[in-house]
Amino acid sequence: GAAVEVDISGIQPGEKIVVEWRGKPVWILRRTPEQLAALEGLDGQLADPNSDRTAYPTPAYAKNRHRSIKPEYLVTVGICTHLGCSPGDKLTPGPQPSLPDDWKGGFLCACHGSTFDVAGRVFKNKPAPDNLEVPPHYYLSDTTLLVG
Ligand code: FES
Repeated sequence: GAAVEVDISGIQPGEKIVVEWRGKPVWILRRTPEQLAALEGLDGQLADPNSDRTAYPTPAYAKNRHRSIKPEYLVTVGICTHLGCSPGDKLTPGPQPSLPDDWKGGFLCACHGSTFDVAGRVFKNKPAPDNLEVPPHYYLSDTTLLVG
């Protein structure tokens, strides 16, 4: 499939855009320092904190806590790894009583309640088995991303 070139210069902190790649929605989220800090300390609640599982292999450059090349930008496929719903276009803020302990905001899949942090790492309390897929991608420049 054709790679998709994306101008990321207009994305504001905390904002997410969606582009299409191979018929899939790809989310590009520019994370705030607070959102990045919220990724700390969740490992015990996550199914695969280090992205070691191979159903949706995480590229080597995204095998880190923020699951990305640049900490600020998450690039992930917006399709739940359970049965393929989309976990919604908006971040679900925290805290929320029905969500995992210390929920600090992230992605909630309304179909069966799976939850993901802002790195797309899945919490182990609900059915989705795997973290959100990180598609192959790299930066052509500071403001241009190539997905695919
Ligand atoms: Fe997302 Fe089932 S499809 S929780």
